[in-house]
Amino acid sequence: MRIKLAAVAMAGAATGTAALKPPPIAMGLGGRCGSPKDSSSITGKPLPTIPGTQSFLNLVEAMEDMQKCWFEHSAGTWPTGIDWTRAVMGAHLAATLRVISKDYTQHGPYDGNIDNVIGRYFGHLISYYFGEDTFALRGQAYDDILWVAMGWLETIQLINEQPAVVTDQGVEEWYGADWRPTFAHRARIFWELGEKGWDTTLCGGGMNWNPKLEPYKNAITNELWISASIGMYHHFPGDNDSSPWRFFDAKSPKQRVLSRQVLPPSDRVFLESAEKGYKWLLESGMRHWEGMRKDLFADGFHIGGRKEGNTKCNLLDPMVYTYNQGVILSGLLGLYTATGKEEYLDEGHGLIRAVIRATGWDIEAQKPIGDISKHGPGRFPPWKGLGRYGILEEECDLPRTCNQDSEAFKGILMHHLGTFCAPNSTLDLSGKIENPNQTEYDRLHGKHQVNCKLYLPWLEHNCKAVLNTRDKYGRFGGWWFPGLLKDTNVRLLYVPPEAIPPNRGVDDYRNNGVPRNSTMWQLEENVHTEERGKNHKRENTWPAPTEGFYISGEAGAPEDPSLWGRGRTLETQGSAIGLLRAHWLVSQIP
Ligand SMILES: *[C@@H]1O[C@H](CO)[C@@H](O)[C@H](O)[C@H]1NC(C)=O
Ligand SMILES: *[C@@H]1O[C@H](CO)[C@@H](O)[C@H](O)[C@H]1NC(C)=O
Ligand SMILES: *[C@@H]1O[C@H](CO)[C@@H](O)[C@H](O)[C@H]1NC(C)=O
Ligand SMILES: *[C@@H]1O[C@H](CO)[C@@H](O)[C@H](O)[C@H]1NC(C)=O
Repeated sequence: MRIKLAAVAMAGAATGTAALKPPPIAMGLGGRCGSPKDSSSITGKPLPTIPGTQSFLNLVEAMEDMQKCWFEHSAGTWPTGIDWTRAVMGAHLAATLRVISKDYTQHGPYDGNIDNVIGRYFGHLISYYFGEDTFALRGQAYDDILWVAMGWLETIQLINEQPAVVTDQGVEEWYGADWRPTFAHRARIFWELGEKGWDTTLCGGGMNWNPKLEPYKNAITNELWISASIGMYHHFPGDNDSSPWRFFDAKSPKQRVLSRQVLPPSDRVFLESAEKGYKWLLESGMRHWEGMRKDLFADGFHIGGRKEGNTKCNLLDPMVYTYNQGVILSGLLGLYTATGKEEYLDEGHGLIRAVIRATGWDIEAQKPIGDISKHGPGRFPPWKGLGRYGILEEECDLPRTCNQDSEAFKGILMHHLGTFCAPNSTLDLSGKIENPNQTEYDRLHGKHQVNCKLYLPWLEHNCKAVLNTRDKYGRFGGWWFPGLLKDTNVRLLYVPPEAIPPNRGVDDYRNNGVPRNSTMWQLEENVHTEERGKNHKRENTWPAPTEGFYISGEAGAPEDPSLWGRGRTLETQGSAIGLLRAHWLVSQIP
């Protein structure tokens, strides 16, 4: 059966006035969610004692709702996604399954049928292996390419963590292990494609972002390169298969997609790529630049004056996105477990603290800066660089001008923060360090856990907000802050015009589609094969409001900001999952 993509029609643009009529909920997104839930099962459910089972159940429910509402079995994909966000959703799914399979015995609702749960969603991942549009992705930017490698590395870890099965015939690997070489092969192909993005002719190194455009060396591509490379070092099981390409020898290097016939596990090339990449990123000046948000990663560097012979990274794009503060964290953890160098952990914690500070959270006092209950008309928690009132926020969230890309960003930050701070994340030195000094590693492990534990109240605060953005199908909103209103006496909160950031959240190349060549854009072919060729228009962004407006924390109220812009989407769901997982993992640190 051919599936029909319901149009993601969001009629009308948000003008942002109090009288704003919210656009209708995009039915294409909710049509497959089934019946609305009993309200007692979702909205308004307070987070019970934390750490606690409820937090685990919230994560599981968010994942199941994502699959129910947005995954299409017959296509093996999330049809409303775009190639790179689908790869990220695959990672969120695999990461959640890793949590379920580890923690269900104590916390799951699944007594006795855990195999069914893991098996069901592992089946989704298998079908996504076939539904992933690798042909399109191979021609996309290096960051798009590397999300693919990252996603399958997550799934390989899921496989590796499943217990063996004891049968009459002896001990057998979990049945999913049959897929390990296949997924590894895909991770390898996309890692090797990514490898071609490393360029030494400009800026003394670094990953270039997109081979089809003017050179741009940005944070995300470099962070992905570091994290994917060290992920390969730790988790890639090796691959000798060069299909679907014939492996061409050095006589015709242009024909080659893979650079090597055989790529063994734990190859030094992975570690060296990650180390070199991190060194370059640190020295690039992308972090610690001058400006309001100087502890955070700016977006990247253009190279001005190339005609005059300049080869230096000299034009900084100072836009600060949440995900640029995240992806590097799993890379830093991997670099630590590969080398035992304390500095990698310290740098990760420094970055997380900078993020937390920029959301308007006082980590010493463990509370948000300001008091929302005292905010009457004319008072609204101010923007702190990456959020307000302790809640992580993308600059496009408040004006609801986020495009599909930026809706996924917060969850990516949280995903990598969760990986960095997962219980015992620093214990697994993977046997890659010779003669480790156990006393020293125990010390570093203890210090890491103490640091991570400090982030729990902030994560909990964000969870409270995001859980209140759910609608009756369990779908999460994109802007988390309004969820806090529900727990206060504030029914409507006035957002003054001066709180509306300049319309920079839309400053993203993907608004125009994807690059066709160095001068032209084209709309992304963002749906699976049978849709290709049709003039499928990518949902665009909405103009930022110009006047003040009221928001409500009540899901479904006319002032519910989750309805504006693109509404509740696959990507906003994924972002909530990233946060709920991070919260759960950190809550499990003793
Ligand atoms: C790759 O080939 C080598 C040598 O032929 C072999 O030892 C190794 O097991 C193979 N690895 C995989 C993942 O097939
Ligand atoms: C962390 O590791 C310790 C020591 O191996 C173990 O006892 C503990 O159960 C682990 N904790 C978690 C949450 O996995
Ligand atoms: C191991 O590390 C501890 C500090 O954690 C240090 O005191 C000790 O000297 C080290 N041992 C060796 C053999 O290097
Ligand atoms: C880019 O593509 C457009 C449309 O195919 C074409 O007209 C233009 O010449 C191309 N530019 C370059 C530099 O290749």
